Amino acid sequence: MKIAIDGPVGAGKSSISDAVAQALGILHLDTGAMYRAVGLTCLRRGINIDDEQAVTALSRTLPIDVRYENGGQRTIADGEDVTAFIRTPEVSDAASRVGTYEGVRKAMVAAQQAIAARTDMLVDGRDIGTVVLPDADVKIYLTASAEERARRRWLQQKESGQDADYDQVLRELIARDHHDMNREHDPLRQAEDAVLVDTTDLDFDQSVEAILRLVWEAKA
Ligand code: DC
Repeated sequence: MKIAIDGPVGAGKSSISDAVAQALGILHLDTGAMYRAVGLTCLRRGINIDDEQAVTALSRTLPIDVRYENGGQRTIADGEDVTAFIRTPEVSDAASRVGTYEGVRKAMVAAQQAIAARTDMLVDGRDIGTVVLPDADVKIYLTASAEERARRRWLQQKESGQDADYDQVLRELIARDHHDMNREHDPLRQAEDAVLVDTTDLDFDQSVEAILRLVWEAKA
């Protein structure tokens, strides 16, 4: 069974995907972590993110893989577990920029398809239902209003002790949406055969349940 979940930033894709995969007893591949691993390696090796040729060459030769420990994904770049280093704001920015290059996307898509071919998987990202797994058994486009996604992110930041400004969080989120949906190669969009799940008025458990219901319906 292959499940594809796509959607914009802040829709809760990662945590909801984790819970759904766990309930189904299958692995969850977070493809954003792979773009982050490329971004991190550029920063570490002093490769200019604006140098499309150099970044593309790196993405073609850098071995990226995932391992699972206690149900959680570990992301491996060039044999090193980089999981602890890929969530900083600098790496988020680098990941989103390297993800605009066609050659980088080709390399990542091939690596993701090879990983997903190993076993039953839930794969989340931006182009899973459209490009990576066009034949997935279930395709979901997970979203929520920009205001609600910004509110959740703002709350998260406040809870972790950061001095967050809601209006700024909302502005940045709208800018990232625009960037993801308007990039030239494999932009974020709902696959024609994907089911829209809008979590604006759903809490976490209700969102997980809505997706599980769709999976069970597809299996029936
Ligand atoms: O899901 P995330 O925020 O960890 O993803 C990091 C960046 O990688 C994001 O800015 C967009 C890009 N990305 C992508 O282009 N395609 C994917 N399948 C997953 C992520």
